[in-house]
Amino acid sequence: MRTHFCGLIDESLIGRTVTLCGWADVARDLGGLCFIDLRDHEGIVQVVAEPGDAAGNAAVIATAAKVGYEDCLRVTGTVRRRESVNNKIRTGQVEVVATAIEVLNKAEPLPFHAHENAGEDIRLKYRYLDLRTPKMQRMMRTRIRLVQALRRWLDARGFQDIETPILTKATPEGARDFLVPARMHPGEFYALPQSPQLFKQILMVAGFDRYYQIARCFRDEALRADRQLEFTQLDMEFAWVDEKTVQDTTEAMIREVFREVMDVELGEFPRMTYAEAMRRYGSDKPDLRFDLELVDVADLVKDSQFKVFTDWASADGGRVAALRIPGGASLSRKQIDEYAAHAAKYGSKGLAYAKIDEAGAVSSPIAKFFDEAAFAALLQAVVAGNGDMVFFGAGVYRTVSEFMGAVRLKAGRDFGMIADTWKPLWVTDFPMFEWDDEENRYVALHHPFTAPAVDDEADLRANAKNAVSRGYDMVLNGNEIGGGSIRIHRSSMQSAVFELLGIGAEEAEAKFGFLLDALRYGAPPHGGIAFGIDRIAALMAGTESIRDVIAFPKTTTAQCLMTGAPSPIPDRQLAEVHVAVRPKAAG
Ligand code: AMO
Ligand code: AMP
Repeated sequence: MRTHFCGLIDESLIGRTVTLCGWADVARDLGGLCFIDLRDHEGIVQVVAEPGDAAGNAAVIATAAKVGYEDCLRVTGTVRRRESVNNKIRTGQVEVVATAIEVLNKAEPLPFHAHENAGEDIRLKYRYLDLRTPKMQRMMRTRIRLVQALRRWLDARGFQDIETPILTKATPEGARDFLVPARMHPGEFYALPQSPQLFKQILMVAGFDRYYQIARCFRDEALRADRQLEFTQLDMEFAWVDEKTVQDTTEAMIREVFREVMDVELGEFPRMTYAEAMRRYGSDKPDLRFDLELVDVADLVKDSQFKVFTDWASADGGRVAALRIPGGASLSRKQIDEYAAHAAKYGSKGLAYAKIDEAGAVSSPIAKFFDEAAFAALLQAVVAGNGDMVFFGAGVYRTVSEFMGAVRLKAGRDFGMIADTWKPLWVTDFPMFEWDDEENRYVALHHPFTAPAVDDEADLRANAKNAVSRGYDMVLNGNEIGGGSIRIHRSSMQSAVFELLGIGAEEAEAKFGFLLDALRYGAPPHGGIAFGIDRIAALMAGTESIRDVIAFPKTTTAQCLMTGAPSPIPDRQLAEVHVAVRPKAAG
């Protein structure tokens, strides 16, 4: 149908006849002279229909005059140098003088126009029109290049690409499972995998040594800009390794793909423990593109009259932290309230502040609780000077860290402190368990198959509260792009961990018996990691939302606006899979 791609027409083709296929990006009829920007996946070239010597020119102009947005065209013409060069497009030096224009398929009036800032809902409903736009094409292609680069790297190093089941038994990663009724087993269900975790471990027991898979994972959890119900991991597992091998290998891989896809040199990734990340940045995925750090001030407030601070300063597991925002004195009363509201979303009960105006006058709702000298010493501890703002948080250690970390990120954005750069790091030494107040039991911070730092079950049991795991996350610009761990490879330790997690022997056998069995037959020490492909692609494409790098994503209300999924199923079909839908509860 065509001889060349629109976006690749260049000066070397001047004088040649070409046939192109594409969409009319823009069509202008200047009365007897028509310009069409013809677009394909490679880009845009200008097509001209103009009066000339050739017979049939009138027909070409007549056809061109009727061309509308996104009509699907086939154009034959001669390439010539353009009079007015357009430096905005790659083909801007040339144009194609049409000798024939064929409308292959007329487009109806568009529901939205690519050249305007259409809302996301309409773009998702007509996703094919959205994906056709150069911006979406560019972002999707970035993802494709990322995956290609990863595969090349892994294939060259002996990683075995092995598929694992989609219809399976639940593997817990901390989210709710998607269930699929089993027609042939009334009342029984498959679960979609939250990750291939258990299968990849079993592949190590099965002797594959190094595995990878570009794997779809399914988690029924609240959606956000960086979370989808189904998302893609680069899933990896290694036998006979410690964390250093996994980290060094995958760090080299990520460095290489950034070089290849982005032409960016990431350098060596620093390592930081979870405790240090929480203390300094109030996050287990710190954004190191700006320097602001939290400062612990419990010692400096413990003798004040402010009960909230004195209580938490002396409480076991409490924290009082301060954050200085350079130039933050410009914040208005209303903006300060917005910071407090933002902190409240992360669990704060209040956000005290001290504002130091340009002349050095301090205004603070908590100054009255301090001696003048003590308050000055407090401000000095965070090196606050004229024109600065200091925020304070007090409460449970983890909560304070998180809401002050959120305040830090907001300030970084609001005050333009975030440098245009790449800041990767490893976060290590995560706690093994987290206490769940609601369920009144420990839950695994990573997943229940992560090895503790201690080798001995008795040591783990004796100090479960403070146990550290052999888990690690890779973080880039404040995003968790990958997470993994060294696994438990002995069934006795695995049983001990299940027990600490409140999973009894019977339940463990029913849910994970196959794993416990496999560990009993000479399972090698092993470990691995999984990277969030969608998140890495979004970072590379320079977009905030992973929806921009997923061809057919769901909305934040968990729907596909194009297909209309999810949708009701007729009773007859439900009966076949032995499912009855309960009436929606009132209210
Ligand atoms: P984890 O649950 O940390 O680990 O997931 C690994 C990486 O997957 C990405 N990710 C997501 N991306 C988009 N939408 C989601 N809902 C979503 N959830 C997670 C993140 C995350 O770092 N089996 C373990 C890995 C292992 O231990 O080897 C696992 O799945 O970038
Ligand atoms: P109050 O005396 O309750 O009005 O509080 C005085 C200031 O302390 C207000 O600015 C509150 O936002 C702030 N505040 C209250 N509780 C906390 C807390 N747990 N951490 C930080 N600031 C708080």
